[in-house]
Amino acid sequence: MSKIAIYPGSFDPITNGHLDIIKRARDLFDKVIIAVNNNPLKTFLFTAQERVEMIKELFNVSEGIEVESFRGLLVQYAKKKGAHFIIRGLRALSDFEYEFQMDLMNRKLNPGIQTIYLMTNQRYSYLSSGIIKEIVRLGGSAEGLIPDLVEKKLLEKFT
Ligand code: PNS
Repeated sequence: MSKIAIYPGSFDPITNGHLDIIKRARDLFDKVIIAVNNNPLKTFLFTAQERVEMIKELFNVSEGIEVESFRGLLVQYAKKKGAHFIIRGLRALSDFEYEFQMDLMNRKLNPGIQTIYLMTNQRYSYLSSGIIKEIVRLGGSAEGLIPDLVEKKLLEKFT
């Protein structure tokens, strides 16, 4: 049975921290599905389609990687995709409480799906999509923190 994992997130936009997690997850699973959250109640800078397209461009739709957006409950989406694993990246301690709550809730909803946590690369431990948006919007450099393509798309949004 092939091991399929879902890597869910807002990816608004994707950062080098996310890319690092995806590359490491790809070594652990047969297939990693990058699932872009398309919750209509949340406000995103990029549309779900823009976020999916950006990620697809970065990965050139390489083997073992799938990218799509999802709505609704993550565990239901995972079941539909035949995935028994969810991948989440962990940065500082401050991530723990939220991740712990999500893990317990997801496990209650579907005990057959395990969440696996990958510790962030320390180079990206202070990185978040939110802080990147602020830096670029205010004219700062995000060099080395996001792919060039993402920086270009951010600049297009802010000008
Ligand atoms: O990158 P984010 O914003 O931290 O990702 C959060 C995400 C998308 C993983 C989470 O909000 C999610 O799973 N949303 C789908 C709705 C859901 O299943 N909620 C219950 C989880 S406890």
